[in-house]
Amino acid sequence: MAATFLSPVPVFSLAAKQGDTARVLITSPTGNGHSISCSSVSALPSASRKKRNTSLVVSATGETLTGVVFQPFEEVKKEVFVVPNSPQVSLARQYFVDECEASINEQINVEYTASYVYHAMFAYFDRDNIALKGLAKFFKESSEEEREHAEKLMEYQNIRGGKVVLHSILTPPSEFEHVEKGDALYAMELALSLEKLTNEKLLSLHKVADENNDPQMADFVESEFLTEQVESIKKIAEYVAQLRMVGKGHGVWHFDQMLLN
Ligand SMILES: [Fe+2]
Repeated sequence: MAATFLSPVPVFSLAAKQGDTARVLITSPTGNGHSISCSSVSALPSASRKKRNTSLVVSATGETLTGVVFQPFEEVKKEVFVVPNSPQVSLARQYFVDECEASINEQINVEYTASYVYHAMFAYFDRDNIALKGLAKFFKESSEEEREHAEKLMEYQNIRGGKVVLHSILTPPSEFEHVEKGDALYAMELALSLEKLTNEKLLSLHKVADENNDPQMADFVESEFLTEQVESIKKIAEYVAQLRMVGKGHGVWHFDQMLLN
């Protein structure tokens, strides 16, 4: 919180607590310094803090520890800091290479493909003659989740000044019956394979960020995707294990009921 300027007092400087590099001044309201935060205020002697009609500023002209003075208006003259004029070019883009941009668009496609397959599974299990409503619910939510992942990548692409380009999505299967496994286990195994494939693609995306020296993009992939992905794999692997236990008959109905809750 900024300190409030009040009535005039003499100008003098104060040493901050040991380890602080900021020089703290008390000045008149006509001074041209900047206000400081509350934490800096606490470094002042209590008698000074109790004084009314004082204001607190940080010196903008103090010496630096290294002796090197930051010269922003010289440094921003470098070509890399010039703000582009073309309306077709992102103003925000910085150190974001084409390969990273293309890889994000590919991952958007992977997420949309998973979403499309899960949506097909939802439609299958929701049929009146299949009527496994728990599985329908699970795959509908999974489909929505994958679409959210695609959208998160789209937003990130825009944050970095890239352009979202959507690619074609393959038509998913519409039938999931399997003579030996039954439909529930067959679909769940397919989901597990898809999640593992998605994880592999995410790891490739992370590698592209690393190879192109883009720690921010690598951090985005790690923090927003990788943990959630391995958790999804674990959950679906457990469902596959449970469906293998119950077989194709009545047990599937109980499994389905469990997914409804
Ligand atoms: Fe995903």
